[in-house]
Amino acid sequence: MLKMITGGESHGEKLVGILDGLPAGIRVDADYITAMLRRRQGGYGRGKRMSIEEDSPRFVGGIHKGQTTGAPIVIELKNTAGNPVTSERFSPRPGHADFVGYKKFGHLDLNIPTERASARETAIRTALGAICKLFLKSLGIEVFAFVNRIGKVSMQTPYTEIKDIVKKTAESPVYCPDEGVSKKMIEEIDTAIQNKETLGGSFVVVSKGVPAGLGSYTQWDSRIDAALTFALMSIPSVKGVAIGDILKNSKEEGSKVQDMFSVKDGKITRETNHAGGIEGGTSNGEDIVLTALLKPIPTVLSIKRSINIKTLKEETLNYIRSDTVVVPAASVVGEAMVSFVISDFMMQRYGGDSLEEMLRRVTS
Ligand SMILES: Cc1cc2nc3c(=O)[nH]c(=O)nc-3n(C[C@H](O)[C@H](O)[C@H](O)COP(=O)(O)O)c2cc1C
Repeated sequence: MLKMITGGESHGEKLVGILDGLPAGIRVDADYITAMLRRRQGGYGRGKRMSIEEDSPRFVGGIHKGQTTGAPIVIELKNTAGNPVTSERFSPRPGHADFVGYKKFGHLDLNIPTERASARETAIRTALGAICKLFLKSLGIEVFAFVNRIGKVSMQTPYTEIKDIVKKTAESPVYCPDEGVSKKMIEEIDTAIQNKETLGGSFVVVSKGVPAGLGSYTQWDSRIDAALTFALMSIPSVKGVAIGDILKNSKEEGSKVQDMFSVKDGKITRETNHAGGIEGGTSNGEDIVLTALLKPIPTVLSIKRSINIKTLKEETLNYIRSDTVVVPAASVVGEAMVSFVISDFMMQRYGGDSLEEMLRRVTS
């Protein structure tokens, strides 16, 4: 029911985004959206561009006196990092969209695919996802993300054992709520910078307060697990998504990984949440827990060799301004994308033209 579409290039005048299908009456806090955009720009190990861009959203449609009207929400983000590169580039960088842009659209100047494939586009998705987050908040659903691995440094403590996890994540330069692990992650990044390397890692997105019954097992494309993994896989450099404890549990015996039922305060509860809040493609009322795995970003200072697509001769690559690690920034985009999908499934299940109407349905 919800639709999100974005347009614009990395060094074009602006990025634009449209979010269609949210009810009227959601309070849209511009400062909240700007703060989320700042978080996407941040994270230890990012390049210079982030200090140049000043992301603040301009609302072009669908919002009146700080509230959604029910019409498509239109947002613009001005690009301030400079004009498009004018010199043409014919040597594809491995791991980027350069070569596929040439094969698919016939672009010889590889700046053209780069301009649109650049993760700059995730800024506008973050702005739209922030509105979804606000919508979910008013329905009692909280979505938050944190980094649990950079390179080989992993957080071992389960997130459920960390108090004030959102605050602690915000305080960490790498968006990891474990202070000791954050320090080790920073060391890992510093070593990578010294070695002219890049790093990958993983982040976790948790959705709390999601009611049971979102999604369905009745048709393959109704499954909420499929929709959530699709949304996270759409983030550049995310190459895998795991639900619940599957990365560990696929090596275990079945009897060790079931979430047993018990009764607490007259209600059925689960003793564990290995399934990550989804059974049979449908939310089961527990926290929805998703882990996204990122490849090390492809622009590596030491990679210089490529082939010119016009001459078919070997050519040296010019290094393009780049980050060392983007897992913290990507975690914010992950939060936005998961918020979008859960908002969509809430709309499908509860509907409503206004937030007021929807709240009545959710709480009845
Ligand atoms: C927030 C964010 C920032 C990124 N910044 C860079 C960067 O500075 N340099 C780079 O080589 N890749 C960067 N990437 C990854 C590339 O955009 C991505 O690897 C490339 O477009 C190819 O897409 P794919 O990895 O999904 O196949 C970034 C990704 C994200 C999510």
